[in-house]
Amino acid sequence: MEFPFDINQIFSERVSILDQTLVAGRRSAERPDLQGHIATVIDELGRASAKAQQLTAPITSASKLQSQRHQLYLLKDGESSGGRGVVVGFLKVGYKKLFLLDRGGVHIEAEPLCVLDFYITENLQRHGYGLELFDFMLQHKNLEPMLMAYDRPSPKFLSFLAKHYSLTQSVPQVNNFVVFEGFFFFNRSVA
Ligand code: ACO
Repeated sequence: MEFPFDINQIFSERVSILDQTLVAGRRSAERPDLQGHIATVIDELGRASAKAQQLTAPITSASKLQSQRHQLYLLKDGESSGGRGVVVGFLKVGYKKLFLLDRGGVHIEAEPLCVLDFYITENLQRHGYGLELFDFMLQHKNLEPMLMAYDRPSPKFLSFLAKHYSLTQSVPQVNNFVVFEGFFFFNRSVA
């Protein structure tokens, strides 16, 4: 995804971690004008992700990120576009208090880290970028994918989780979240 400004000037790292402050490292903290560009990038990514998932409205935008305690991992390819860089995709995660059913149908209250949105630009899908981003997040959070919950995962994302992390056995829920075998062993009941 290309923009009419220099992506490398805004995002110095290959993976940037954004939160409520909408700051991508020291440089953008010192340059409030860059924050407008960061918001443009997030809004554009959010719209593209919604379109790819056939959602009626984006679940990711700069204003939503500013008002929610979520984290957004943004992956760039700094070499492309004549050295200005392109945005490859993003992964948004956050903690949510959930009421879940374990394998025996017992209600469990837990507050796991959830994958809330995930998108790699169309022409770069199936090139391993999603895996790079997801693995970066797992290392940063020091977490196993089995311990996370997934908000309304798309068929592509379910295929991704099965292929890369062998997550195939989900435990049926009555909400939109998907959790897999092993989740309840570590996320003990607090109910
Ligand atoms: N059809 C089926 N499976 C796919 C597809 C596709 N078009 N694209 C990726 N996958 C899955 C497959 O398992 C694939 O392995 P394969 O090629 O051997 O079949 C694997 O992902 C490839 O892994 P990566 O290359 O690392 O994944 P990618 O960079 O494509 O990122 C992602 C995966 C984020 C799901 C991407 O395909 C995408 O953006 N899809 C559209 C948006 C989307 O569905 N996002 C998930 C929303 S749900 C949520 O966020 C909770």
